[in-house]
Amino acid sequence: MMKKYMVIAFLVAICLNGFSQKYEGLAMTPPMGWNSWNTFGCDINEDMIKDIADAMVELGLRDAGYIYLNLDDGWMAKERNEEGKLYGDPKRFPSGMKALGDYIHSKGLKFGIYNCAGSKTCGGYPGSRGYEYIDAQCYADWGVDYLKYDWCNTENLNAKGAYHTMRDALYKTGRPIVFSICEWGDNKPWKWGKEMGHLWRVTGDIINCWDCEVGHGTWSSWGLWKIIDMRKDIRKYAGPGHWNDFDMMEVGNEFSDAENRSHFAMWAMLATPLIMGNDIRTASQETIKTLTNEGVIAVNQDSLGIQGFRFSNEFNIETWIKPLADGDWAIAFVNKNDADFNLEFNWLKHEMGDDLNQRFINFKQDTYKIKDLFNDKKLGDTSKPLNAVIGVHDVLMVHISKSKVE
Ligand code: GLA
Repeated sequence: MMKKYMVIAFLVAICLNGFSQKYEGLAMTPPMGWNSWNTFGCDINEDMIKDIADAMVELGLRDAGYIYLNLDDGWMAKERNEEGKLYGDPKRFPSGMKALGDYIHSKGLKFGIYNCAGSKTCGGYPGSRGYEYIDAQCYADWGVDYLKYDWCNTENLNAKGAYHTMRDALYKTGRPIVFSICEWGDNKPWKWGKEMGHLWRVTGDIINCWDCEVGHGTWSSWGLWKIIDMRKDIRKYAGPGHWNDFDMMEVGNEFSDAENRSHFAMWAMLATPLIMGNDIRTASQETIKTLTNEGVIAVNQDSLGIQGFRFSNEFNIETWIKPLADGDWAIAFVNKNDADFNLEFNWLKHEMGDDLNQRFINFKQDTYKIKDLFNDKKLGDTSKPLNAVIGVHDVLMVHISKSKVE
């Protein structure tokens, strides 16, 4: 008899387990949106978030693909309520999170929120440890579409286990919620993240500098090229529904226009989420032009979902390539020098290919038409060398195609 019950219990456990998984079919291309952290830290409120929602629509960002409006740390009251539930800070979010979600949805956008696997968030607000199922249900009730789940105050927690618990809690709500793992790459989430979520941060926090490390005692913030160099070799782990997250963008945050273009180009080449981190309400026209560049966004959102890689790094020119659907390719030449660079690139002398994905180009056999994406200009074809002047920290990003360039 005992044995029979054990068998039944075992089968029930298998069934229950079988029903908990990550929500599949989400983030089939890298998520695009906006997040409050890089510019506002914890200083956020509902009026400002609504303004951002309006600006995302008015500036054409939503229509360019930026769909998620994500609140980062700082949205909650300092304590849970008597039922143990989270709620919005009563002064800064007096209308409550459901009302804010409704507003965001009314603009044709999706609603993202933040919490942490530990006892408290990095900003000292109540974390989800021990409250995972309660919190997940609240998010679902508020209409949340995206959860960024951080890693502060997680003493003795096992990372894979903690993200597993929240994944299951989200799944149980029945609502499709993108699950963004943010444990800074400490426990190699690229090795287990595909099962747990839709994207995972690969490093500590980004900071708006070209190539610096800023130490904060026990941790550091990283400039663009530090992040890229640190994690350029984990591309095999990324693909549709599971992305390496190189962190929210600093485009528009005190970079030159050239650096903004290079940053944006690189995030596109890396097939990493395009989450804006600037104050779009006060952004320059040039910044918005960069962020809404259709051709560059298409490279990021390409349906193959292959992360690009460094082809060469000669004369301080980083050349990156990314295979695209239909046999097309994107190529970015970034000038890291502090002077203009005269590029002469003779296609016929190069063999380009992606061993990992078994995709190759034979320039001697096939001629590709070339399009300059930032200048929206045709640049002839690969039968002749490409000549261009690339400004300081600027990029020449091209899309090459055997058939399609108009
Ligand atoms: C961590 C994350 C950041 C941000 C802050 C919020 O540092 O990595 O992206 O969410 O916490 O406190």
